[in-house]
Amino acid sequence: MTKLDKLLTIDELMAEARRRVPKQFFDYADSGAWTESTYRQNTEDFKKIFLKQKVAVNMEGRSLATMFGGQAAAMPVALAPTGLTGMQCADGEIKAARAAEKFGVPFTLSTMSICSIEDVAENTSKPFWFQLYMMRDRAFIERLIDRAKAAKCSKLVLTMDLQILGQRHKDLRNGMSAPPKFTPKFIFEMARKPRWAMQMLGTKRHSFRNIVGHVEGGGDLSSLSQWTASQFDPSLSWKEVAWVKERFGGEVIVKGVLDPEDAKAAVAHGADGVIVSNHGGRQLDGAPSSIRVLPEIVDAVGKDTEVYLDSGIRSGQDVLKAMALGAKGTFIGRAFLYGLGAGGEAGVTRALEILRREMDITMALCGERDVRNIGAHNLYSVDLPPRRLPGQN
Ligand code: GLV
Repeated sequence: MTKLDKLLTIDELMAEARRRVPKQFFDYADSGAWTESTYRQNTEDFKKIFLKQKVAVNMEGRSLATMFGGQAAAMPVALAPTGLTGMQCADGEIKAARAAEKFGVPFTLSTMSICSIEDVAENTSKPFWFQLYMMRDRAFIERLIDRAKAAKCSKLVLTMDLQILGQRHKDLRNGMSAPPKFTPKFIFEMARKPRWAMQMLGTKRHSFRNIVGHVEGGGDLSSLSQWTASQFDPSLSWKEVAWVKERFGGEVIVKGVLDPEDAKAAVAHGADGVIVSNHGGRQLDGAPSSIRVLPEIVDAVGKDTEVYLDSGIRSGQDVLKAMALGAKGTFIGRAFLYGLGAGGEAGVTRALEILRREMDITMALCGERDVRNIGAHNLYSVDLPPRRLPGQN
């Protein structure tokens, strides 16, 4: 039994990641905007949803396999795009993509990744998804989309909720940057986290490789908040969905929707799916949890498109609750980042295994054998306004 096998929950992976990852990068993942109330609400609200136990139901022959964004997936979980993944662990995006590929779930690479699109493509064998931020420099965005196409990315995820960066106090206090600055404090950190440091010294991937060397006059990327303020396009509108889709020539999923009217607009402008997301509580502090607004978005667009959810998933039970409320699948961010920080590729695999086991046993105890049959009938009424569930009157 390896040390990772002894870690039984995502929270335990988180504790291990905290021990191994330098504070500024652990904190970058473990932070929400301003008071972090939305960040906390994301996980708290899942606890207010109750699963319905059923007994005397045959539990044999269970299956978590499903279609996710038109492709077969081992379970209804995809890896969300997360910034600076390659700072949780050297070559983090490559390791996470490989774990996802072997496990049979989609991996989404962030624009703000450390490993580039090409790095991940060279080190994996199946198509992955690419997440796009719109920037003022349209020529750069065109090239980025073309690079995603050339790397055979099978889907674009267009993030709509981060044209301006929510303030995360921890990042400011820690002076978080990529590559990290060699301050005495950081050198001391490296001495305390030797495994992280040795692995980092063994890779050349330390900065935002989708961007560095691909933009002219891009400014100093090390300060994420200043860089996004100067480069991200604050005038982003719905018409860009169609523009991106046309340029990519494939499916585009719109991420960051919390409002039914926004979801309808996304679909009307060509979105091939929407991700109900508050960016893990990192953007609008005071926004409701994603799980709270999921049902009304499913009601608004669920017939026309696939609705997914991210923000707050820390267990297989959470995945099933989201499915019961109408999500076709879920995205995990921190849950896999903690695995990555705790144990690299094997740690991401461990995170996926934990979720799979929780989902499998929970589904059985709910009297279900096929995850695709999970629905509102698996829940008690939900004490989270709005109270109307899809499929319930
Ligand atoms: C980037 O997507 C971030 O939330 O930091």
